[in-house]
Amino acid sequence: MFATRSFLLLSLIALVLGKPTARNMKLHESREGIPDGFSLRGAAQPDRTLKLRLALVQSNVAELERKLMDVSTPSSANYGKHLSKAEVEQLVAPTQNSVDAVNAWLKENDINAKTISATGDWLSFEVPVSKANYLFDADFSVYMHDETGTEAVRTLSYSVPAELQGHLDLVHPTITFPNPRGLLPVFSAPIKAEAQNLTSRATIPSSCASTITPACLQAIYNIPLTRATKSSNKLAVTGYIEQYANQADLKTFLTRFRTDISSSTSFTLQTLDGGSNSQNSSEAGVEANLDTQYTVGLATGVPVNFLSVGEDNQDGGLQGFLDTVNYISKMDTPPNVITTSYGQNENTMSSNLAINLCNAYAQLGARGVSILFASGDGGVSGSQSSSCSKFVPTFPSGCPFMTSVGATQGFSPETAAEFSAGGFSNYFAIPDYQTSAVSGYIKALGSTNSGRYNATGRGFPDIATQGANFEIVLGGRFGTVDGTSCSSPTLASIISLLNDRLIAAGKSPLGFLNPFLYSHTGASALNDITSGSNPGCGTNGFPAKAGWDPVTGLGTPDFNKLLKAVGL
Ligand SMILES: *[C@@H]1O[C@H](CO)[C@@H](O)[C@H](O)[C@H]1NC(C)=O
Ligand SMILES: *[C@@H]1O[C@H](CO)[C@@H](O)[C@H](O)[C@H]1NC(C)=O
Ligand SMILES: *[C@@H]1O[C@H](CO)[C@@H](O)[C@H](O)[C@H]1NC(C)=O
Repeated sequence: MFATRSFLLLSLIALVLGKPTARNMKLHESREGIPDGFSLRGAAQPDRTLKLRLALVQSNVAELERKLMDVSTPSSANYGKHLSKAEVEQLVAPTQNSVDAVNAWLKENDINAKTISATGDWLSFEVPVSKANYLFDADFSVYMHDETGTEAVRTLSYSVPAELQGHLDLVHPTITFPNPRGLLPVFSAPIKAEAQNLTSRATIPSSCASTITPACLQAIYNIPLTRATKSSNKLAVTGYIEQYANQADLKTFLTRFRTDISSSTSFTLQTLDGGSNSQNSSEAGVEANLDTQYTVGLATGVPVNFLSVGEDNQDGGLQGFLDTVNYISKMDTPPNVITTSYGQNENTMSSNLAINLCNAYAQLGARGVSILFASGDGGVSGSQSSSCSKFVPTFPSGCPFMTSVGATQGFSPETAAEFSAGGFSNYFAIPDYQTSAVSGYIKALGSTNSGRYNATGRGFPDIATQGANFEIVLGGRFGTVDGTSCSSPTLASIISLLNDRLIAAGKSPLGFLNPFLYSHTGASALNDITSGSNPGCGTNGFPAKAGWDPVTGLGTPDFNKLLKAVGL
């Protein structure tokens, strides 16, 4: 009934708005069906306002990619010679032709758009559903995420006028669906917290077998306790979905686990899209507390920024990823390391959008920023455990221009954590730096899982750290959490401490890590993880094996070996 009524309404509106001249519309993007977990609730009200964003085609992405690899590959003469903001912007700014074509189209359709990125490649504007349907030959409808009740107005396909082809990259939100659950880890409390002696890290405290604390990570990965010295070397932690990082909890955490540093050590708050950071103890967020406690508490002396991204963003349920990357790209001196423990299944996103965001990470990488994301917590079934037949890769882990962090557990031996998401992208082809590592794995794997994963896709994760039984403080209580959400901040701390030493020695920060990690020197500085697997989709998932594997990547870090590997 709903569908019939909406059809009539839409036809009427098309008559009113339709121009008499035949339009030459070209299908631009479509998806095969509604993503798992969502259902169609009916047509969207024609007068409902849609906040849309439009990306223009960037001018020279191939050259950006070439330069990114050039400055990130240790054997290159230009290794570490990162690009300036202006150099990157010049490479990717849309051409005047594209700007003119899109402006002419906006004018013709009476659309008042606002530029929202530094290079003018992203615009935003508001139109009623009826006009959006007309402009893009779309069918914007109301979809609901059944489990959380989250509602989204989306279309399963859209077209653009032929004259915009090659100029307009994508319209969002259209076929990309939101990820209402994020990757949030589950907090279990209370547990018996044991204070540990903090003077020596030579041996791994036996308590690390049941709970992981900073002392455990320092011992397992040889992370130094000495203070970093470079105040310019910032580590940024992103926070979404009203996850607040609680200062009092951080203090309790440091008082218990870092008696060697001031318990008042904290982070600096940055906000965007109306983000805030409530200090009401009952609103402390598991993810935000975990991420700040394991950066401030591990990256000793490194200035940590907590970037709280609010709900005012208009980026269509992408959790603010788009706004975050535009915000950081506009900074003259961005943080050297950014860690994000959120993500979503790749198949919920438009491939154009995934590629666009991935290129934004390449831009930051070219400027010397290390972009780290947690790989996800559903093993081969994606960001979170779900039923599936084919394996589900996660975003942005499939993007070749960032570093995806998986999880391990235990230390004798250190083993893959079974929730550690890993696999192969369906959107991004395998990058050169990874081909030999991945083909070695696929060969060793034989026919296991064949047909369930894309053997030509970018493999992930790249690296792993401990990710189970992390002890945190939440609302004044001690408890533990599991997830690759634990791993990304841990790695971010290690990379930040390496950057501090590099900068002190007059060298560049590491920037985009992967070409280094996959080099012989980089891989040799990691502990290869060869046991465990990441079950899902009714299978045992991928087994960890010697060398790279899609559960633990190349392995886990060893700070002392990494110091040598980076030439210190
Ligand atoms: C910490 O060190 C003290 C003195 O060296 C010792 O008595 C105590 O047992 C140690 N505690 C732990 C948990 O190792
Ligand atoms: C703290 O948050 C809780 C839950 O949101 C709320 O009920 C309470 O009133 C808040 N307390 C203060 C002091 O704002
Ligand atoms: C597999 O990955 C390749 C490379 O990214 C891609 O072109 C292809 O479409 C993918 N296949 C499927 C079935 O998704």
